[in-house]
Amino acid sequence: MNNPIGVFDSGVGGLTVAREIMRQLPNEDLVYFGDTARVPYGSKSKKTVLKYSRQIVRFLLTKNVKAIVAACNTASALALDEIAAEIDIPIIGVVKPGAKMAVETTKTGNVGVIGTESTVKSGIYNDYIRELNSDITVVSKACPLFVPLVEEGLLEDRVTDDIVGRYLHEMKEYKVDSLVLGCTHYPLIRNTIKRYMGENVNLVNPAFETAKSLKEMLTEQKLLNEEMHKPQYEYYVSDGVDKFISFADSVLPCRVTDTTVVDIESY
Ligand code: DGL
Repeated sequence: MNNPIGVFDSGVGGLTVAREIMRQLPNEDLVYFGDTARVPYGSKSKKTVLKYSRQIVRFLLTKNVKAIVAACNTASALALDEIAAEIDIPIIGVVKPGAKMAVETTKTGNVGVIGTESTVKSGIYNDYIRELNSDITVVSKACPLFVPLVEEGLLEDRVTDDIVGRYLHEMKEYKVDSLVLGCTHYPLIRNTIKRYMGENVNLVNPAFETAKSLKEMLTEQKLLNEEMHKPQYEYYVSDGVDKFISFADSVLPCRVTDTTVVDIESY
């Protein structure tokens, strides 16, 4: 089926998920929406994140998408179940695939999860991980400063090294051997996190696992686009086109030209 896949995030972070989808599903067209006017979601309530996510899903449905990826950990944690029950097309989030990979990779049974305040507060990673294996101990930590550091481009910087050390020393104390990067921005500072945590700690990137799960789901539901063609990518944001384009160009394997502003409050 050659309709596009809708991908959304609170802003630019979901581009790390879009990038993995582009790599693993090279025949799929994508419609990306980044809610750049209302970011961050990570400090907002469930009610607000659900309202925003519903508006975005309504917008994506106008683009005739065949499936939706909530490429935002916070939206996946706070809004996915409700929305899945409200729409007729499949929607997947990033939390379940990440949790599954953490369970598969831990050897010591000590798993760490880092994310936004709302994702950590929701306890959703803990619930999924312990549903899969109740013997696993999960240590979670909100790392709210990571998002602005990434957005400011401080991917390799002394300040980022310092903040990583402050947030993650507990993860070392608990001897986690599998650490879930439970926020879309965190894969962009994975080198700094890896340097601090050490070679023996496996960093789980839910973006990679989500693209894998998406492929499985599309195959099962006979929605995969098997026609070889140059995929079309459309980008929409709620504000700040120039900033979005320059960030997208640094993350994606292709150049982003057109990006359209959408009045998302009207959906
Ligand atoms: N995209 C969000 C997430 O993965 C991070 C940025 C935000 O707080 O909105 O949770």
